[in-house]
Amino acid sequence: MTSKLLLAGVIGDPIAHSRSPVLHGHWLQHYGINGHYVPLHVTRDRLEEVLELLPDLGFSGINVTIPHKETVLQLADNVTDRAALIGAANTLTFTAKGKLQADNTDGYGFIENIRQNTEDWSAREGPALVLGAGGAARAIVSTLLAEGSPHVFLVNRTRARAEALQDHFGARVQVVDWTHIPDLLPETALLVNTTSLGMEGKQPLNINLDRLNPATVVNDIVYTPLQTDLLQEAAERGCHTVDGLGMLLHQASPGFERWFGVKPEVDDALRVAVLDE
Ligand code: ATR
Repeated sequence: MTSKLLLAGVIGDPIAHSRSPVLHGHWLQHYGINGHYVPLHVTRDRLEEVLELLPDLGFSGINVTIPHKETVLQLADNVTDRAALIGAANTLTFTAKGKLQADNTDGYGFIENIRQNTEDWSAREGPALVLGAGGAARAIVSTLLAEGSPHVFLVNRTRARAEALQDHFGARVQVVDWTHIPDLLPETALLVNTTSLGMEGKQPLNINLDRLNPATVVNDIVYTPLQTDLLQEAAERGCHTVDGLGMLLHQASPGFERWFGVKPEVDDALRVAVLDE
């Protein structure tokens, strides 16, 4: 007797670059699950129709990527608190009662990555300095606040975007100018780059790290390259560094567990499988 075939996938436009199929495919094989995870190219004009069709085709759920992460909130029957707070969803589940549930696991992926790669880390230990104010920053700031971060300093090229986050999240978030980064470094417990600067093919992230405190944990959500200049320089200054690949891997875990019924392990074998892709 074979168990029921389980289906999930990822929808976006474009979709060819997505690493999610390899990631979920690795877990499906590792846990011997009778299931498939497929990339589906879905344009904006077909989104609603596709979301209605997928459960009828047997899908348990679906990941959502650019450009649908915000739009799906309007189409969902239930939106988790964290997805509502972030204003975007990346993990949709078709419930047994025929409802569409929208969740955002980016912040979870971020924090689990930091936790897995540090000892006894706590957001409560001191202020965080977050570079960037896009979608990823929104999820990260929201999670840091929920985890008890006393203060989040936010720096962004477009100041108005950072101010919008400050308005949204309240007094513990403070917008600062790019030029003030060096003054904040000595007191920063956690430094996170959420911009695309430093990514292969993009401009470098040019910040002066002379005043970086060796006790600061430094994380870059860029994972191509794995060892960004920021992480390299921080490590040379004695800081504990955490690369960005783990965030991608951990954010996938809640969806996999919901759709395929196993809480998957984020380990070196998974990292190798995704990097080899
Ligand atoms: P994501 O959802 O991955 O966070 P995003 O919403 O496009 O992507 O955000 C990208 C972030 O990188 C933003 O903070 C962006 O700054 P702006 O808000 O000013 O656009 C930042 N970023 C991208 N290219 C940049 C550059 N050349 N210089 C400075 N910041 C840059």
